[in-house]
Amino acid sequence: MRIVDLRSDTVTKPSPEMWETLRSLENSDLGDDVEGEDPTVNKLEEKAAKLIGKEAALFVTSGTQGNLVSLLSLTNPGDEILLEELSHIYKNEVGSAARIGGLMIRTYPSIKGVPLFDQLQTLIRDKEDIHEPPTTLFSVENTHNYHGGVIVQPEVLKDMRDFSEKNSLKLHLDGARIFNAAVGLGVPVTEFTKHVDSVMFCLSKGLSCPVGSIVAGSKEFIKSARRYRKMLGGGMRQAAIIASFGLIALEPKWIKRLEEDHKNAKLLAEGIESYDLPINIDKPETNIVIVKLLQKTRIVKILNQLGKEGILSFNISKEKIRFVTHYGINEDDIQFSVQKIGNTLSKFLIYK
Ligand SMILES: Cc1ncc(COP(=O)(O)O)c(C=O)c1O
Repeated sequence: MRIVDLRSDTVTKPSPEMWETLRSLENSDLGDDVEGEDPTVNKLEEKAAKLIGKEAALFVTSGTQGNLVSLLSLTNPGDEILLEELSHIYKNEVGSAARIGGLMIRTYPSIKGVPLFDQLQTLIRDKEDIHEPPTTLFSVENTHNYHGGVIVQPEVLKDMRDFSEKNSLKLHLDGARIFNAAVGLGVPVTEFTKHVDSVMFCLSKGLSCPVGSIVAGSKEFIKSARRYRKMLGGGMRQAAIIASFGLIALEPKWIKRLEEDHKNAKLLAEGIESYDLPINIDKPETNIVIVKLLQKTRIVKILNQLGKEGILSFNISKEKIRFVTHYGINEDDIQFSVQKIGNTLSKFLIYK
């Protein structure tokens, strides 16, 4: 049976070039990374730091671990941090900032990831008041997953930087898909990252590595992040085996490939929209398509039926289905998906 897996860009398999790189590894390319002795990991971290425009970088096991070591490095237990209300750190990282970091979490509302700064100002605690915990960190997600892969523009990040400086906050970027943002706008990734103290990006999403993420920032920040990674059990030994894929993933050609995913997301959105159903789809800016159902229905039944038809997807709320395009999905898969999704939705939703 033909399966098109649009659940996430995390389901990608490595490219032939990645396999080739893995096969060509020799013992001399491997070392103990906890001791900083794995030449391949060191190469990857240097390459990532340069590309992202930061002093240093650290290879971590996952995006979740990368976000957590960043928060731990930039705060103290008892601090309050500002997270966007639909952000991955707030919704999907098991409350680790509170559980492990001892951090108070305050959420801020946004319009597609962009905060309303006046409102944001009211969330900052009074540092002089001995009754209040200090607000010390502000986090932004880009592209924003639950808002449909939208790009938070570099000018907005600049405003966030100014806001953070004014209020003595550290600024963290959950840039799990920051290269989608850069490619989507056609600007260097540093246009985003230059405004933040720390950034996490994933190798294991659109960049299609099997494992791993990168955290980047100042040398001092990375020194601390490395300690926290060890504390969290993320100190790896001969990690060249997984890091080698990242060296391919960070090549310009491979980053540019994300354009294909964005093109496919647009085709998918346009195709589904052509069915004239009671749904709403915002024009995708990157590789995520969110279909909002405008009629009350059992969304799980729709997902199950789609699964039976070979289209795998997730719902992100009771009314929104998310489809993510990625490496391994081609235009033909998109046409097939459009037909299956259009027909399935037609069975569950009533034409207006
Ligand atoms: C925006 C965002 N941040 C962080 C993560 C966490 O990445 P990981 O699954 O590697 O822990 C994800 C995963 O989907 C994500 O979408």
